[in-house]
Amino acid sequence: MTGDIAKVNAATKALEFVKDGMLLGLGTGSTAAHFVRLLGERVRQGLRVKGVPTSEATRNLAEQVGVPLLEISQIDHLDLDIDGADELDPQFRLIKGGGGALLREKIVAAASGQMIVIADESKAVDVLGAFPLPVEVVRFGFALTQKRIAEALRATGCAGNEVTLRTSGKSNEPVITDGGNYILDAHAKRIAQPEALGAALKNIAGVVEHGLFLGLSRTAIIGKAKGAEVRTL
Ligand code: A5P
Repeated sequence: MTGDIAKVNAATKALEFVKDGMLLGLGTGSTAAHFVRLLGERVRQGLRVKGVPTSEATRNLAEQVGVPLLEISQIDHLDLDIDGADELDPQFRLIKGGGGALLREKIVAAASGQMIVIADESKAVDVLGAFPLPVEVVRFGFALTQKRIAEALRATGCAGNEVTLRTSGKSNEPVITDGGNYILDAHAKRIAQPEALGAALKNIAGVVEHGLFLGLSRTAIIGKAKGAEVRTL
């Protein structure tokens, strides 16, 4: 519950960065959902913004709370992207994709003038990797891709190299992303060289995108039980 209050506090602080007329990237996950709900309240009070959602879940929520939306095909630049993270290190390198939306999240972040990460304190780590790194892969030949990913983990000095197919808890069927792909979770344990690992993963046939967000954010809002701290690089 404390975590949830901290997430709400981070999302509330992020509203201070939103200005009238902005085009916004709307992230995915529980922290980003708090932001979208709060944004909806501001829109009802007269704030004029438009958002591009990073998942179908966020699209549905934004529609419910009345945030006007645009398709990504309608824009070539966003002013500000607000999104959560599974881990962030002191250089604001991120692991994202715990909710499976990493591909659209990265496209939206890359199209945005600024990305602000909103997270509770538990997400701030010294070294990335305790949270399994999500990698979105095409379904064809995914078992081969899985092996290549394990090799990339070994070659870049990660502490672990187990790679598992993400399945749904209920049906045990593979999780299918909004893009129609699988998610492989790379249990790196400790990612010694995030840039090298990111490059190695991008080089594997079958990998669509990975959840390392490198050099995309210079501002993080860390929510706490009371209030939130804005950190900048
Ligand atoms: C969604 O794919 C993720 O990148 C989320 O941003 C991340 O998992 C953080 O989620 P929470 O805000 O629910 O912790």
